[in-house]
Amino acid sequence: MLGRKVTGDRERETISKAKTFMPAGNGNTVAQDVMIRDGKGPIVWDMSGNEYIDYLLGSGPMVIGHAHPNVVAAVVEQIGRGSTFFAPNDFEVELAEEIVNAVPCAEQVRFLSSGTEATQMAMRVARAYRKREKILKFEGGFHGMNDYSLMSLAPSSPPDFPKPSPDSAGIPHGVQSSVLVAPFNDLETTTAIIDKHHNEIAGVIVEPMQRVIPPKPGFLQGLRDVTLQYEIPLIFDEIVTGFRFAYGGGQEYYGVIPDLCTLGKAVSGGFPMSAVVGRSEMMAHFDSDRVPSDEFMPQVGTLNGNPVAAIAGIETLKVLRQKGTYEKLFQIGQSIKDGFQRLLNEAEIPAKIIGEAPMFDILFTDNEIVDYRSTLTADKGKMVNLNKLLIERGVFKGDVKYYVSTVHTEEHVKQTLDAFESALQQLPG
Ligand SMILES: Cc1ncc(COP(=O)(O)O)c(C=O)c1O
Repeated sequence: MLGRKVTGDRERETISKAKTFMPAGNGNTVAQDVMIRDGKGPIVWDMSGNEYIDYLLGSGPMVIGHAHPNVVAAVVEQIGRGSTFFAPNDFEVELAEEIVNAVPCAEQVRFLSSGTEATQMAMRVARAYRKREKILKFEGGFHGMNDYSLMSLAPSSPPDFPKPSPDSAGIPHGVQSSVLVAPFNDLETTTAIIDKHHNEIAGVIVEPMQRVIPPKPGFLQGLRDVTLQYEIPLIFDEIVTGFRFAYGGGQEYYGVIPDLCTLGKAVSGGFPMSAVVGRSEMMAHFDSDRVPSDEFMPQVGTLNGNPVAAIAGIETLKVLRQKGTYEKLFQIGQSIKDGFQRLLNEAEIPAKIIGEAPMFDILFTDNEIVDYRSTLTADKGKMVNLNKLLIERGVFKGDVKYYVSTVHTEEHVKQTLDAFESALQQLPG
């Protein structure tokens, strides 16, 4: 039965221990009072056995569902033969080859272990290649937790562009002078900043769909044009959009090819792995034989490219390559989006559903959402309350975003819409 019906003693005890032994519980922001224990396909269960339709999907990686039998079989077999070697292995090479086949900008691949590392390395490649220091990012754009990414992700009082605002304590002040910030979807302002600072800019990093805000028609192409004009490397952070919006990611879906991109989440089917990929002449900075010693970027990591994660990625990508996969993913996502919008309209609650079918969210506002500042007009409290009501009714999602998988079905959509309708009836005004 769907929904949070009971909380057993063991789960209650574990929740309390988490707060004792780990600062702020586990640190991730999702429902701190639920301990997820199992997952299968699009369903997760908590420690007390309550069942939920999962739209968090591990924050995105489980795009083909939890514990997919092909992934499990391949991973279990490899674990019995060794989990990690640090030495090269054939699976990382096979996965790298498949990424190059799939992703338009990918000529070469360097594996890392998290998205945070991948964006940090991609920015470093841009600096090494272009021999400049500054990175231009977009206000509200998320690129993980490294010092450069945690600039103007969620400023409470945003400074004038292009000045960045640090999002975390502990970031050296010097980092601020290496980052410029522009408004997403505002090509005119972005171009003006690039025109003025092009001589200092090493690279531009952008999520092709920023969080759940789709790019306006022409925005990504305009960014591509101006970065090409000044020969500035353009980095797409495709940690979310990669293998999700299309097999070739956001760059295939939106038809704009960057110089470099970062991949994570879906690329390794729920195991820790990420990648920087891109044009060979830029990736050359990882290779001491191809660049002068002062342009070389040493880069190693204990678990990078480990065979278990690589195999999980290979098997996940095989499933994604099956005929009709993306059509189905988009169809299910669209059914949920349409259903939510209909129910919100019927309840006369002003709200917008933004994003693309495989990943979207609801913002409680009448305003058009085009950038970070416009998201500030949304009623966040309402969103928090709705998320809680949904968990009680068996719909599990993160603080932001619904992720849809290839194994959600029309039956799950129906159950989700029933839960949503009931949650809206209880939603405080
Ligand atoms: C667009 C984007 N970039 C980077 C990251 C960071 O990835 P990780 O959590 O693997 O460090 C995330 C994580 O959600 C992301 O959404």
